[in-house]
Amino acid sequence: MYRSHTNGELRLKNVNTEVTLCGWVQKSRDLGAMTFVDLRDRYGITQLVFGENQSEMAKDLGREDVIQIKGTVIERESKNKKIPTGEIEITVTELTVLNKSKTPPFTIEDETDGGEELRMQYRYLDLRRKPLQENLKLRHKLSIEIRKYLDSIDFFEIETPYLIKSTPEGARDFVVPSRMNPNQFYALPQSPQTFKQLLMVGGFDKYYQIVRCFRDEDLRADRQPEFTQIDCEMAFVDQEDILNTFEGMMDYLFKKVKGITLDKFPRMDYATAMEQYGSDKPDIRFGMTFNYINDVAQNKGFQIFDDAEAVIAIVAEDCSTYTRKELDKLVDFVKRPQVGAKGLIYVKCNEDGTFKSSADKFYNQEDLKAWADKCNAKAGDLILVLSGDKATIQNQMNVLRLHLGNELGLRNPNKYAPLWVYDFPLLEWDEDSKRYHAMHHPFTSPKKEDMHLLDSAPGEVRANAYDLVMNGTETGGGSIRIHDKATQALMLKHLGFSEEEANAQFGFLMDAFEYGAPPHGGIALGFDRLCALFGGQETIRDFVAFPKNNSGRDVMIDSPSPISKEQLDELYLDTKPA
Ligand code: AMO
Repeated sequence: MYRSHTNGELRLKNVNTEVTLCGWVQKSRDLGAMTFVDLRDRYGITQLVFGENQSEMAKDLGREDVIQIKGTVIERESKNKKIPTGEIEITVTELTVLNKSKTPPFTIEDETDGGEELRMQYRYLDLRRKPLQENLKLRHKLSIEIRKYLDSIDFFEIETPYLIKSTPEGARDFVVPSRMNPNQFYALPQSPQTFKQLLMVGGFDKYYQIVRCFRDEDLRADRQPEFTQIDCEMAFVDQEDILNTFEGMMDYLFKKVKGITLDKFPRMDYATAMEQYGSDKPDIRFGMTFNYINDVAQNKGFQIFDDAEAVIAIVAEDCSTYTRKELDKLVDFVKRPQVGAKGLIYVKCNEDGTFKSSADKFYNQEDLKAWADKCNAKAGDLILVLSGDKATIQNQMNVLRLHLGNELGLRNPNKYAPLWVYDFPLLEWDEDSKRYHAMHHPFTSPKKEDMHLLDSAPGEVRANAYDLVMNGTETGGGSIRIHDKATQALMLKHLGFSEEEANAQFGFLMDAFEYGAPPHGGIALGFDRLCALFGGQETIRDFVAFPKNNSGRDVMIDSPSPISKEQLDELYLDTKPA
């Protein structure tokens, strides 16, 4: 028997028990006559005492050595209230060093001195740290509870293949060459979209899978090239059934894992979200919604506003005391290339009822009072205004709003604000390729009442598509699908596929639709994002055991990496140097 107890287990009630413990040496303090060692495993830390006769054997212990000890539990003289085992310690009688450790390249404690890249390279050491252990424990717990919930309402977990052909979700595919089929390639799934639809045709009317997806796209804090979805599909349902089912799942998870009862999720259509927040994933933990002040701000001789399609204002409550320096900082912020605004106008609503604006030359006190009234700003508030092309300004104002939300501490990670956004546009114009793309994916059904616009105003057609937004992050997305061949063919035509291309790529799906495909729809939630949300963080990397860095590399195993000429030849790949 390697161990009788874990390092998080022993309490006062165990005093006088003979125990065998294993773990890593977190730290060792040599006090001459006595040596104290903190022994760590994933359950906690237990203090070991090597007394006068045993101190010698602890002398050579170094950080991260793996040891086994035998000893007796005793009550501590000076208790440590901060850890659950803090009232006891173990007087050691026997020590076995199971494996020595080199000195780790960074300290393995809650707060580490290791830089990002170094910790990624030695991920197995970073994983020993408590914050990462907690994150992966949370991930485990969530996956168990998700399965319990979905099983309780008759969902089947069914695996779908990883070696498939391209399923467009808007990113590039990772491809795998086929040795047995020269010059042909599999694609790794960007999602199991078409397979889950085929499962509906196959009669499995409630499917889910906690499944890995692969997307070759630019990486960000909330994106990994391989990530995990809670992928779901249901037959004989409409949008309402899906929203209710997955709102139910989120309620269940919050209750079970965080002990939080959520209110009914608010809903907002896409058009309203864009109008009020300039984003299809508004963070509704705080207000600061958009005010369109064209009517009070234009035609007063200020050319920049007069020429603008939209003049949008937001109100930062109680910020009229911002100093010149703080205001300049905001102006610099919006002028950064990442935001791209040309400038920012501000109005201070002073406590004495007067106004001070950066465009005083064009606007008198009465004008500014009209702005304040329009925005519902009160004395003590600060009004910030951007102007220009509507879509661009909405976008820039969204960035400014979130920035201020952060600055003013309005984005509390312990507050949860879910939101359903629905009625997304079906199509999205792509300037580069000069054609429409499916905003969600090509299998999403258009709204019946908008079908007549497909030819005349494709950009105005709305889809039966919805996103689950949590604290300003897109946590999930889904739609009601097309389930008949004619509509699917029409959709692909509008996306620029010729009939031959459509058949070559999606013939299998359209054929299946001809054999009694039931009406169906679904959703996929980003599991890594959900874990980060529950863990109160925005970056998903530390909720994945072995993530990739921002260049898509695994620096621990050094991948991607070249392969041998033999392998390349076997796969019929050109071996010329790049
Ligand atoms: P979608 O493309 O919206 O929908 O993806 C669903 C959810 O997956 C998460 N996600 C990601 N998480 C981490 N890294 C990434 N690179 C990444 N990309 C997406 C997001 C997102 O909301 N087949 C459809 C779903 C459906 O229609 O049922 C789909 O994949 O949280």
